[in-house]
Amino acid sequence: MRKVAVVSGGGTGIGRAIADQLAAEHEVVLLGRRAEVLREATEELSYDGRRVRSVVADLCEPAEVRRAAEEITAAGATVDVLVNNAGGNFAPYPSDDLDTTREQYLRNLGGNVLPVVLLTQALLPALRRPGGRIVTVSSIAAFRGNTSYGAAKAALHPWSTELAGQLAADGITVNVVAPGYIGGTDFFRERMTPEFHRQRSAQAPVGRGGTVADVAELVAYLAGPGAGFVTGQIIQINGGALMGRG
Ligand SMILES: NC(=O)c1ccc[n+]([C@@H]2O[C@H](COP(=O)([O-])OP(=O)(O)OC[C@H]3O[C@@H](n4cnc5c(N)ncnc54)[C@H](OP(=O)(O)O)[C@@H]3O)[C@@H](O)[C@H]2O)c1
Repeated sequence: MRKVAVVSGGGTGIGRAIADQLAAEHEVVLLGRRAEVLREATEELSYDGRRVRSVVADLCEPAEVRRAAEEITAAGATVDVLVNNAGGNFAPYPSDDLDTTREQYLRNLGGNVLPVVLLTQALLPALRRPGGRIVTVSSIAAFRGNTSYGAAKAALHPWSTELAGQLAADGITVNVVAPGYIGGTDFFRERMTPEFHRQRSAQAPVGRGGTVADVAELVAYLAGPGAGFVTGQIIQINGGALMGRG
């Protein structure tokens, strides 16, 4: 029987590339808030008999997460791989105003932590034991920078490590990948210009920015059978950007 992989935020960018890669060996379920985006991605990824479907849900809302989990696990389906990729920087411009700062922190903490924690909790009973895989997408911002986005991604690290310890005896691995700058996604929205891309890419000593395929390769490895001894890790993927050029 075909394995099942769930990819939150699978309709665009990094999540879509992960879904594309996993669809070679899994039935893939894409999650996101925009029905039209998911419909297009589902159609485009369903080539050569690959099985891709989508469920529309705002993963910050418990009732929607509950409904999505019920839909995914209908008829007793087991989930082999859960990729917590949904997130983003929902307040990229820090403010001097206290009320605005409070609002920005709440938006980014809610928008990045809740989709991960709620979806994982809802799907936990359905994860394959042994052999299940949970991979969560963090960011280089969790290691540097003083934004609410970095704080939100950093909050996922101890959560993931703790869960890895709890689920180890069940044979489920739990890891985080923390990408540096990755082009070709909707993440930067209006901030993305050719000059912005050049500057961000130049931060990596390897001499280029990351691609969605770079991250998808790493996630596919962690989701695969060869990674059973890798758990509780936070793996950076940034072309050396964090260490700088020396
Ligand atoms: N691009 C980078 O340089 C970079 C670097 C480090 C980390 N990351 C992280 O990588 C992940 C993917 O980002 P990306 O670069 O691929 O940007 P993206 O194209 O904007 O992807 C984000 C995805 O998350 C979904 N999403 C956001 N909030 C959601 C919610 N509440 N419920 C359901 N789905 C939700 C979005 O779909 P809807 O809007 O339709 O819901 C979208 O498909 C994010 O966690 C991001 O923080 C990105």
